[in-house]
Amino acid sequence: MARARRRDPAAPFGRCEPKLLSRPLEFIHVEHLRHRELCQAAEDLAEAETLDRRLAEAVVNFLRSEMTLHVIDEEEDLFPVLRRRLKPSDEAGRIIGLLSGEHAADEKLSQEIASGLSAAIDAKATALPKPIRNALLAFADRQRRHLSVENAIVLPLASQRLSKRDLDEIARRMAARRGIRLRGSST
Ligand SMILES: [Fe+2]
Ligand SMILES: [Fe+2]
Repeated sequence: MARARRRDPAAPFGRCEPKLLSRPLEFIHVEHLRHRELCQAAEDLAEAETLDRRLAEAVVNFLRSEMTLHVIDEEEDLFPVLRRRLKPSDEAGRIIGLLSGEHAADEKLSQEIASGLSAAIDAKATALPKPIRNALLAFADRQRRHLSVENAIVLPLASQRLSKRDLDEIARRMAARRGIRLRGSST
C-alpha cells in the first residue's frame, strides 16, 4: 500500500527555476531531483488501490513535456559535447553509450505509461490495470539507476572536462529549446 505523500499541487515534482539554465549542469542536477520525485509518484500510482487522477495527469504531463526536453538536452547537447572533450584515459564513452541506449528504451516505456494513464483517466477508471502498474514500477526502477549513473559519473566528469564556452553554448541551446533567451546570448 502506497504511503500518503504531500505534494504541491502546482508543482508535484518540485521546481526548476529557468534562471538556472545559465548553469546547465546545475539545471540538469535539479531536474534529476525532480525525476526522483517522479519515480516516487510512479510507485505511488502503481501501488495505490484507487487511482489518484490528479497525480496520474501530472505524471503524463511531465513525461510528455519536461522529461522529453531533458532527454533531448542530454542527447543533443550534453552527451555530444562531453564525448568530444573526453580524454583517451576516460572510460566514460562506453557509459554514455549505455545511457543513450537507455534513453531510447525508456522513451518507449514512457509512451506506454503516458498512453495507459491517459486511457485510465479518460475512462474515469477507479484503479489501474496490472500492466500499467508493472510498467510504472519498471520505469521507477530503471530511472533511479539511470539517474544514479548520470549523477555519479556524467555530471562530475562534465564539470571537469567542459569549458566555459561549452557550458555557455549548452545553456543557450537548452534555453532556446524552452523558448527562453538568456541574458548575454546573441541568438
Ligand atoms: Fe538525466
Ligand atoms: Fe539521461
